Amino acid sequence: MKQQINKIEISAAAEIAAAADTQSLEAVRIKYLGKKGALTAILRGMGSLTPEERPVIGAYANTVRGKIEEEISARSESLKSASLASALENEKLDVTMPARKKPLGRLHPITQVENRMKEIFVGLGFDIVEGPEIESAYNNFDALNAPADHPSRDRSDTFYITDDILLRTQTSPVQIRAMQGKQPPIRIISPGRVYRCDEVDATHSPMFHQLEGLVIDKNITLGDLKGLLELWAKAMFGEDTKTRFRPHNFPFTEPSAEVDVSCFVCGGKGCRLCKGEGWIELLGAGLVHPNVLAGCGIDPQIYSGLAFGIGIERVVMRKYNIDDMRHLFENDIRFLGQF
Ligand code: DAH
Repeated sequence: MKQQINKIEISAAAEIAAAADTQSLEAVRIKYLGKKGALTAILRGMGSLTPEERPVIGAYANTVRGKIEEEISARSESLKSASLASALENEKLDVTMPARKKPLGRLHPITQVENRMKEIFVGLGFDIVEGPEIESAYNNFDALNAPADHPSRDRSDTFYITDDILLRTQTSPVQIRAMQGKQPPIRIISPGRVYRCDEVDATHSPMFHQLEGLVIDKNITLGDLKGLLELWAKAMFGEDTKTRFRPHNFPFTEPSAEVDVSCFVCGGKGCRLCKGEGWIELLGAGLVHPNVLAGCGIDPQIYSGLAFGIGIERVVMRKYNIDDMRHLFENDIRFLGQF
């Protein structure tokens, strides 16, 4: 029986040392020390021994049991620390590794230019107001002094929803909304989308953006309009920028002008960008027509006003030297990523 115990001691030691994880170690424990384990069976069979042998074998069996228990707990400890070490090794975080690049989006050039314009006018004390893109024909045309036979009212030029409701063709109806029911001083800008029945080409789109401006107060003159727009052009395109006012006709202003800025590529000498003219047309402007003021309940004998409407796409194209407006709406990342 002593030999059997000795065999158990040797094979248990070998199997404990070979146990690769806590599960197989537990299996070894059960195999030798469990209720039906090998060593347990020996202790149970002690009854067949002589009274002299019994204490000797019993003591030996207990010593071996203690040894096996110790070996198991030592092995268990070392398995635990090994698995911790390997977890630490595998989950190692190298904070010095270069980060994976996340491509950052950016604002569309139209939005960037619109934001810059807002900044400039807000800095001059203007409020920003919004108007709806679906507008009444009254606000878009009648209240702006456009006669019934004005060409822009034609169905071939304007998207009508009903006879009285349309997609606004300009941001100017926001002027009406800003004046109705209010008294001067009024100083607002209003950027937004406008719609016209135009075929898409390099300089036309059925949807584009304008930024409307309106100032109503006592003693507003053409000098104020010129000074304001010159200031804007310099802030937008640089100190060297010159402006030019050409007489024009808009129903809602008198006098009216179209305003050009000197070409910032050639500085006015004439080049490909400005088609040899030295000037680039960006906006319409004028002094608010007395009929428009009176129609909104503002006394033209006391107050006068200036107004302007800037084509945002034109500013973007001139600022970034873009020769085809379609680029701005095709949403090609290779193009948009350049701004
Ligand atoms: N609404 C005009 C257009 O779309 C632009 C314009 C001209 C706006 C003169 C104005 C203005 O406020 O005073 O062509």
